[in-house]
Amino acid sequence: MAKPKAARSSRATAPRKVAIAILAAGKGTRLRSKDPKVLHRIGGRPLLEHVVLAALNVAAAKDVFAIVGHEEERVRAAVQHTGVRFISQPEQRGTGHALICSREALRGYDEVVVLSGDVPLIKPETIQRLLDFHTSKGASMTILTTEPSDSTGYGRIVRKSGDNVAAIVEQKALNPKQQKIKEINSGIYAFSAADLFSRLDRLTTDNAHREFYLTDMASLLTKDKKKVLALRAADAHEVLGVNTRAELAQLDAEVRRRKASELMSEGTTIFYPETCVIDSGVSVGPDAIIEPFVQLLGNSTIGENTRVASYSVITDSDIGANVTIRPGCIITESAIASGAVLGPYAHLRPGSEIGENAHIGNFVETKKTKLGKGSKANHLTYLGDAVIGENVNVGAGTITCNYDGVNKHRTIIEDGVFVGSDSTLVAPVRIGKGAYVGAASTVTEDVPSDALVIGRARQEIKEGWAKSRREKRGASK
Ligand code: UD1
Ligand code: CA
Repeated sequence: MAKPKAARSSRATAPRKVAIAILAAGKGTRLRSKDPKVLHRIGGRPLLEHVVLAALNVAAAKDVFAIVGHEEERVRAAVQHTGVRFISQPEQRGTGHALICSREALRGYDEVVVLSGDVPLIKPETIQRLLDFHTSKGASMTILTTEPSDSTGYGRIVRKSGDNVAAIVEQKALNPKQQKIKEINSGIYAFSAADLFSRLDRLTTDNAHREFYLTDMASLLTKDKKKVLALRAADAHEVLGVNTRAELAQLDAEVRRRKASELMSEGTTIFYPETCVIDSGVSVGPDAIIEPFVQLLGNSTIGENTRVASYSVITDSDIGANVTIRPGCIITESAIASGAVLGPYAHLRPGSEIGENAHIGNFVETKKTKLGKGSKANHLTYLGDAVIGENVNVGAGTITCNYDGVNKHRTIIEDGVFVGSDSTLVAPVRIGKGAYVGAASTVTEDVPSDALVIGRARQEIKEGWAKSRREKRGASK
């Protein structure tokens, strides 16, 4: 192992214990929503989850703390799966107060990085760069800043000299001269834990919102001759906050732009990417083709060489390789094996499993149904609670009557069955291997293997009937 470089200060010698605290206790009044702000989604993921995932690239889950308060239980539940820890801020009395509530939990750390639950596009590299800059300069507080095209609403950075900051001034407290400052506070900081926690008691609520502002730490530390530095983020987008629905839409578009570029660089073709809605959690294999106006949502995966045609909406589903999805398919919580062909206008509801090279055609709806390898249901059919074997042909207009008004029942169709068009299969029912269902049959009882079932009225022919009716009509005139 290489020897560590000679330390310039004691601070660089021992490994520093770093905590990441994410402010997520606020209500988000400006969204005018019943839901807490940090649970609003961009790229299909709650704002807070974006921030948590970035933090987890820099620190272990045991060192990442989400500070929660408003609708605390719901916020916790949304990111519980990531393994991060939680700190309660029961009353939301400002960003400074959030840190006051964190003092106990963060005891024992040397540095505290503060992220904002409503600044979702922050990248792990930037968090790391902030931390490295902060520790290498021996700063007490380092503020990540930027100059967005519109600074309205943000706290502004009052620089002293070079990278040194005198104060952060909130929008409502700006004097005319400060209103010209373009550099804003991103709400993302690195602090020396000791310098921060020993001064939190000196924060006051002497401001427009009667809250404890974390931003006031900048001037407090500067007055104590501590080092407060500003570090500019390379990309202004990364540190944009979400306070309004309009900002939510802007950032959503940005996340999806990023996602589409990432997929394209990994070998996916996306036509008119600006018309496609692809969630952050989606993965797409190389040489897949995504046509205009497609939505790929949740944790869907799309296999290699698969084509998804326009106006299809795929949610939390696994689509294999070499699958053809024709226009207008709606696929939810389902699995499609390789080589299958779907649509146009197929509706695959939760629990549909479509086998290798199987076909589901236009206006076919499936629910909790397994369609075996090579089987086909090509037109105008409903298949619910059905287990269908391999190489089965389900004729046009076939319906599984799976619901008796109270309970759902299963239909089993074994390998090689041929179901004639317009058949109704009244569940529970089983059609044995290789059997043949005559068109327009109503099947109410199990059919043995290799049998033919015909369940319909026998055809009757009345010779000359139509002609004599026409003649009678003519006579009565
Ligand atoms: C804050 C900064 C502002 C900065 C901006 C960047 C302060 C006083 N101002 O303003 O300088 O330019 O962020 O986006 O800090 N929160 C809590 N507990 C509270 C209050 C807020 O956890 O008691 C959380 C919120 O949920 C949110 C974050 O802190 O995730 C920021 O709060 P918000 O009210 O949005 O602050 P801004 O007005 O945007
Ligand atoms: Ca904010």
